[in-house]
Amino acid sequence: MSAADPDRDALKARLEWLRLLGVNDLPRPRSEPERTAEPVPSPATTTAGQRALFGDAGGDPAPDPGREPAAEPRRSRREETARTASPLADLPQADAPEAATALSILREDIGDCRRCRLCEKRTNVVFGVGDPRARLMFVGEGPGADEDARGEPFVGRAGQLLTKIIEAMGIGRPDVYIANIVKCRPPENRTPLPDEVATCSPFLLRQIAAIRPRVIVCLGTPAAQTLLGTRETITRLRGVFREVDGIKVMPTFHPAYLLRNPAAKREVWDDMKQVMAALRGE
Ligand code: URA
Repeated sequence: MSAADPDRDALKARLEWLRLLGVNDLPRPRSEPERTAEPVPSPATTTAGQRALFGDAGGDPAPDPGREPAAEPRRSRREETARTASPLADLPQADAPEAATALSILREDIGDCRRCRLCEKRTNVVFGVGDPRARLMFVGEGPGADEDARGEPFVGRAGQLLTKIIEAMGIGRPDVYIANIVKCRPPENRTPLPDEVATCSPFLLRQIAAIRPRVIVCLGTPAAQTLLGTRETITRLRGVFREVDGIKVMPTFHPAYLLRNPAAKREVWDDMKQVMAALRGE
């Protein structure tokens, strides 16, 4: 396989992220037989493992050679691709032309928006990005400086971490849809004010109505509070599915929070495992 092999790169990204988290219980496709060897306890569930993973300095965990892919029997490229098949693979999608048309009409409706004060300092309206037929959608708070400059959500440091999380789930970033509750950057990256959210969030709701994803992941408190209509904070909300208009909604920590608190990646990964199971219909 060449260094530019996309399957290999995706697999590598996924394994790197999982290793960073210390996750050893990789989901297996149903067709793959269970290992018969002595089960290795997941470091994430043991105190010793926790120390190994996050340590005093929060450093990367030492790789567990017993669970390294190199220690497994050699697999063909086809088998490896199947092993990391996207959890979206078998899910039916919304009607493509209809969803794409609804989104482009919505983008036109937003236009060069002047509906709230956020327009004064923004460079670009950051509408959203991804597959109009996505079965998985991520909702953040509002664009930061990088997003404002590029007109695309989650492209800065937090966005790069979000991309890693998505890839670790075995999904490509282009296969999901990513949007924010407000489409213009709040000055100094402050939290959007209630009237700004009230003005802008109907556009998010129309995006959701067009895409009709199976699962929405709310990143951080403002996204979760807005979509779930609650005042609870993300620490209390995360890790438990709610249902909004027939769509499963999983609140989890914002990737910007993970950059400041890497130890919380484990909780996010637990939440993403639930999301993957929901996408598989479990
Ligand atoms: N944080 C968000 O909530 N959204 C973005 O698009 C970027 C950072």
